[in-house]
Amino acid sequence: MSQLFTPYDLRGTSVRNRVWVSPMCQYSAVDGLPGDWHLVHLGSFARGGVGLVMTEASAVSPEGRISPQDTGIWNDEQRDAWARIVDFVHGQGAVAAVQLAHAGRKASTRRPWDGRGSVAEEDGGWETVGPSAVAFPGLREPRELTAEGIAGVVDDFAAAARRSLEAGFDVIEVHAAHGYLLHEFLSPLSNRRSDEYGGSFDNRVRLLLDVVRAVRAAVPEETPLVVRISATDWAEGGWTADDAVELARRLREADVDLVDVSSGGNVPADIPVEPGYQVGFARRIRQEAGIATGAVGLITEAKQAEEVVAEGSADVVFLARALLRDPHWALQAAHELGVEIGAGVHWPDQYRRAALD
Ligand SMILES: Cc1cc2nc3c(=O)[nH]c(=O)nc-3n(C[C@H](O)[C@H](O)[C@H](O)COP(=O)(O)O)c2cc1C
Repeated sequence: MSQLFTPYDLRGTSVRNRVWVSPMCQYSAVDGLPGDWHLVHLGSFARGGVGLVMTEASAVSPEGRISPQDTGIWNDEQRDAWARIVDFVHGQGAVAAVQLAHAGRKASTRRPWDGRGSVAEEDGGWETVGPSAVAFPGLREPRELTAEGIAGVVDDFAAAARRSLEAGFDVIEVHAAHGYLLHEFLSPLSNRRSDEYGGSFDNRVRLLLDVVRAVRAAVPEETPLVVRISATDWAEGGWTADDAVELARRLREADVDLVDVSSGGNVPADIPVEPGYQVGFARRIRQEAGIATGAVGLITEAKQAEEVVAEGSADVVFLARALLRDPHWALQAAHELGVEIGAGVHWPDQYRRAALD
């Protein structure tokens, strides 16, 4: 009996299996609007049998975009463009999640295939903000957020959460990983503030907890809330796995349902990348903080994903690149694991003949 293809209950929202789409920027939006590309990209994962489809990092404000081509959810036009995609995802029996993001000091950059680096204001870029005026190496120096600016960020996340539900999304994920704004506040390497948002651990986690509480208050009680964190900066003097465990405890107390456990991204670092290299962090947080976790990072094989869930390292797995290579990864995995068509796996009627042998 496959654990991977056993339904998962996320705060009352039943997800048909534990193969979930990890958020993936497509750098293909105009004015923050998702378009046909996003419909086909995300729609193909839903058709391909995953339990939950997560959008790419979608900015809560224009200055929170990583690149000028990021999707957003700061206005009603964007909400309506997302609604079409959410409807298709639902039509395929998958749960729809949105990743709400603010890129902080890593905003206003060129998309990867245009060579990375900061986009100048005259080329459509903008002034970036961060906890402190400390640049990510190679990118422009951000402006230190004022207390008023911080309150604005909290409001933007709450408004975006509200708009996401209007678009039909079932689940909200707050992006607090990969060196973007909320992670920048967590890490002493990027946060040099001396006010109540910097210095001690309590102060550095304050913004994320403020955002989580504001989002929680902005949505109905039954809405599942997920937070993606980096479990470590992989760098001397930075954010550590011990910090991540303590943060996860506080997230649980703040009514977060699941922690999506990634790592790195706040400073350049040597990361010991190998299959399942972040699974251990998900396991530790699940065991020591008593909160559900998602594991992500080089999970590519059906048996490997099955093991992660079956051995209790995580409740679900998030897949990114394996799904780009094969949007039907979940159907293929179910086939390989010998899972019968039923609650955990749904072959579209049009594709059923592929399930037979
Ligand atoms: C094309 C691409 C875009 C990505 N964009 C995002 C993103 O928007 N938000 C995020 O949290 N992670 C993003 N990531 C990271 C993935 O979600 C995932 O954590 C990482 O790729 C490791 O998983 P994998 O080995 O299954 O690819 C992206 C990864 C890829 C390959």
